[in-house]
Amino acid sequence: MTEFKKAYDAHLEEFQKNAHIKGMEAYQRLYRESLESPDTFWARQADHYLTWYKKWDTVLDYDFSEARIQWFGGGRLNASFNCLDRHLETREEAVAYYWEGDDTARAQAYTYGELYRRVNRFAAALRHKGVKKGDRVIIYLPMIIELPVAMLACARIGAVHSVVFGGFSAEAIANRINDCGAKVVITADGGFRSGKPVALKKNVDEALKKCPAVKTVIVVNHVDSGIFLTPGLEHWWHELIALPGLADEVEPEPMDAEDPLFILYTSGSTGKPKGVVHTHGGYLLYAAMTMEYVFDLHPGDIFWCTADIGWITGHSYILYGALVNGATSVMFEGVPSYPDFDRFWAIVEKYRVNKFYTAPTAIRSLAREGEAHVKKHDLSSLMLLGTVGEPINPEAWRWYHHHIGRDWCPVIDTWWQTETGGHMLTPLPGVAPVKPGSCAFPFFGIDPVIIDDAGEPVKHPDEEGLLCIRKPWPGMARTVFGDHERFISTYFSQAPGMYFTGDAARKDEDGYFWIIGRIDDVINVSGHRLGTAELESALVLHPHVAEAAVVGFPHAIKGQGIYAFVILKTGREPSDALKKELVAQVRREIGPIATIDVVQWAEGLPKTRSGKIMRRILKKIAANKLDELGDTSTIADESVIEKLIKDKVDVSK
Ligand code: WTA
Repeated sequence: MTEFKKAYDAHLEEFQKNAHIKGMEAYQRLYRESLESPDTFWARQADHYLTWYKKWDTVLDYDFSEARIQWFGGGRLNASFNCLDRHLETREEAVAYYWEGDDTARAQAYTYGELYRRVNRFAAALRHKGVKKGDRVIIYLPMIIELPVAMLACARIGAVHSVVFGGFSAEAIANRINDCGAKVVITADGGFRSGKPVALKKNVDEALKKCPAVKTVIVVNHVDSGIFLTPGLEHWWHELIALPGLADEVEPEPMDAEDPLFILYTSGSTGKPKGVVHTHGGYLLYAAMTMEYVFDLHPGDIFWCTADIGWITGHSYILYGALVNGATSVMFEGVPSYPDFDRFWAIVEKYRVNKFYTAPTAIRSLAREGEAHVKKHDLSSLMLLGTVGEPINPEAWRWYHHHIGRDWCPVIDTWWQTETGGHMLTPLPGVAPVKPGSCAFPFFGIDPVIIDDAGEPVKHPDEEGLLCIRKPWPGMARTVFGDHERFISTYFSQAPGMYFTGDAARKDEDGYFWIIGRIDDVINVSGHRLGTAELESALVLHPHVAEAAVVGFPHAIKGQGIYAFVILKTGREPSDALKKELVAQVRREIGPIATIDVVQWAEGLPKTRSGKIMRRILKKIAANKLDELGDTSTIADESVIEKLIKDKVDVSK
């Protein structure tokens, strides 16, 4: 500890003057209370953070064996009211979002009052189109103000939004529309990326060929592409909200605390993405509370989370957590490299951002471009740096801390998941020194345990095992939409009586947690989760492919890259052209985030005698760890391995 203490606690004294949690003892006292008296603890938080139409009858009721979890049962509230209406009295003129376009000349500030008016108007438009409480609405938009407006308008009338990240394909949109039974889709003609328009509506058109139930498409005119809409089915956003007779204000629908607020799809180890369901009550509370404590939010802060709202990080910390707290955030449409690699730092300087939250992959890609880009800007406003999405390697951590954080800002490495709703393991800036690469301690109410293969808690510091959570917390997912059995089998079966995270971890002798990574067949590419089964299904759709196996391998920028072993059908010849076709095929099926880095042609795959592919071995081959192949005695035909090693693609090039 002493070594870290010296190097990385420069910020501590200063944070402790003003932080919400001052020092280890204060943290431990509150943490203990959160586990020993969860009802009192969480009732106090729910009272403090949220405005309720009706208070709850019971704080918590749960049974992990059936994955039945209920927080604030009988309570009634509305997420949109909590994000907007209750700030009007004191913060109507306060800025909710400083929106910054991809084009440096486009920027706009939106106050809480302005957001309130836009959300109400659009909620009225949705009602007019027949959207009712409980209906699902798919939102496929770029990072423009209509995205939070659409989400909050859904929440206001009790509809359940499901945002699909703009980088997903037509196929992915269609699957999500059909899985959740949405009849309404909200999109834009396009978005801007690196100065160029990117078409979005045409992906929706393509998707809708497979979605006969969709009755309404609402389109934002963002890039002025001059597209034509199908009368009756499709409507321009700006025309819809201008309809005469539409109400200016819509009463928020009083929702049960356990009513779904949104569905967000995420990859798992089987082929089909899961629709993770979050609630109006527990989720909202947990997003708000983690936002305030983890980023040590104070009035006057300018917060910037660089995630896309299409991911859980954006849902929780650009939208819900930020707005419940009445915070001021930056919302950015573009990419870190346009017009140049200093764009992030130019924005930090422009808005005097003091709390900045990004992903390790962004840090690595910017570090590669050198410090000159950083030095062009005054970053002295920065007080706190956060990261999320994947383990951060020590070099990237140090670059971030040194060049961006002046060797002073704490780096808050937050570990959490789509399913957890908010931060789970994370340093708090005023509590203790940070350690590069460690996500430090559990947040209040979180009871983590690392278990061994027998399901027993590990006995020694630094012993690796599976990370599980022993007790429910308000922000946890409640089900997989339409498939509760899958929710039970994915999260509550590996370690009965606990929530199973899918990550391996260890805890050191100072009590700091270190995440090792996924133990299931999920690859984390630039902080985005991709299931190997999804990738393999996309590959075998190609008429020349007989079989495919996909694994992750260490990648300098993306964290993990995608390595595909492909067996062609008899009579088909490998070629570079075919390789390109396969890469394009997977991008088309899933989206550009699923870009295969390496294709290795194979004649056979290592399989057990019962026919199961031995991924453990493929992973070692892809990572070039040939001396770590381990026990290969259960393999049906060992010569397959020699052949794969001989033909292996050198990923270091
Ligand atoms: C990984 C993103 C190490 C982890 C909020 C988890 C991390 C998965 C970290 C969830 C971190 C996320 N350190 N690994 N700080 N944060 N992960 O659902 O494997 O997109 O299970 O949620 O990302 O990814 P998801």
